[in-house]
Amino acid sequence: MASLSTNSPAQAPRVPIPANGVDYRGTVVLAPMVRSGELPSRLLALKYGADLVWGPETIDKALIGCVRRVNPRNGTIEFTRLPSNGGRTDTPAKESVISRIDTAREKGRLIFQLGTADPDLAVQAARMVAGDVAGVDVNSGCPKPFSTSGGMGAALLRTPDKLVSILEALVREVGEPFKIGISVKIRILSDPEMTKSLVSRLVRTGITGLTVHCRTTPMRPRERAIRDQLRMIADICHDAGVACVMNGDVENRDQALKMMEEYGVDGAMIATSAEANSSCFRSEADGGLAPWREVVYNYVKFSIESENRFGNTKYLLNMLIPGKNKEFAQAKASKTYTDVCRNMQFDDLIPGAICLDEILQLTEKWEAAPAEEEKARSKAVQNAIENNESARAAGGHAARSKSTSAPSHAGGPIRTLGIPESSAMAKTEPEISVDSSIPATEVAQKQVTV
Ligand SMILES: Cc1cc2nc3c(=O)[nH]c(=O)nc-3n(C[C@H](O)[C@H](O)[C@H](O)COP(=O)(O)O)c2cc1C
Repeated sequence: MASLSTNSPAQAPRVPIPANGVDYRGTVVLAPMVRSGELPSRLLALKYGADLVWGPETIDKALIGCVRRVNPRNGTIEFTRLPSNGGRTDTPAKESVISRIDTAREKGRLIFQLGTADPDLAVQAARMVAGDVAGVDVNSGCPKPFSTSGGMGAALLRTPDKLVSILEALVREVGEPFKIGISVKIRILSDPEMTKSLVSRLVRTGITGLTVHCRTTPMRPRERAIRDQLRMIADICHDAGVACVMNGDVENRDQALKMMEEYGVDGAMIATSAEANSSCFRSEADGGLAPWREVVYNYVKFSIESENRFGNTKYLLNMLIPGKNKEFAQAKASKTYTDVCRNMQFDDLIPGAICLDEILQLTEKWEAAPAEEEKARSKAVQNAIENNESARAAGGHAARSKSTSAPSHAGGPIRTLGIPESSAMAKTEPEISVDSSIPATEVAQKQVTV
């Protein structure tokens, strides 16, 4: 396809990058992934060289009303809420952690992705996290019915007026006051002319970046990405000064850099290859793909440090450990972090694992559980895996999470494992010693005014 660009690189305009934002140019980044993009996965991707990380899509309504609190043990920020408990009053509702951010280790590198179909809700939700992230991205590519039926995700590609109004509202009411970038992630449309007209409108909203997943909405993930609209999209972005990030079948850093050059895009985003082994972000020159056991060790370490929900950790272990290895079956059967570390012979992680099992009350639960209850619980874990928790939370049915941190727990610091940066930051970063009862919006506003 012929280049549409009228600007030579020297005179190309550039949308200014806000002071607390980040430029997507020259980056190879972790894609937003529900379930697979929780905090430990993001820390793993950063460890292996991802330049930026996108958080999993969080639905606006799930975030609105959350309380922002600091986890006293590891200094991470947790956005928590009480689920509706299905209207039941007989059992106490348990808090759900809707999102968890490591403001020290993700500083300047985390893009928070929102699922939204409404400018006001988008602004309300984005304000809650704006003080803790480098950018807010709008998901305009998710083809799943839970998203599209509410007008979110890929449905926004068919309602460009709405998508434009969401982005404009975010730029004006969140991006500008909080000095962070706003971006959007789209899919290609089957008619290139329609893609062209959509992208031409999006780049005039004040966004700093646009990611294009090079598949159409009906395409299945296993179908090969289509790249013939990419250069045209990049040219439209460049004429408006907006960074263009490509996504779809990018497998590793070296290949990403080659393709960025070939298609004239500014960045590349990796999803499934990173889900399987995050060391895909490491170039061959720096060591290339790491052995799965090393990756799993680092993942378990970050999971313990992050106090990640055990069901989520188990899900990722099933992705990271090759199926034919004996550790795969053992990880599947593990009921606690301690089990995982013993089975994997990660002996140095055991003290932290024991501490976390106690915090998450995993040990007591499993010990006390009669066989039938245990079976039911396995099913619940499976359901949680199969459903998008943030979407369910948005509907007022947040998953019953085992990972709810107990703020009153008097146990010592969980990060005893030789990665003290965040704890150290916790001492020096004033914004994380806030009153845990303050609603997140107020905290975020306070942060931006200091
Ligand atoms: C497990 C999983 C969860 C995903 N969740 C999201 C999401 O929350 N938001 C989003 O925009 N895309 C999501 N995606 C799509 C990816 O971000 C990406 O666009 C897609 O997988 C294509 O990239 P790939 O070819 O590198 O896999 C998800 C993909 C996977 C595999």
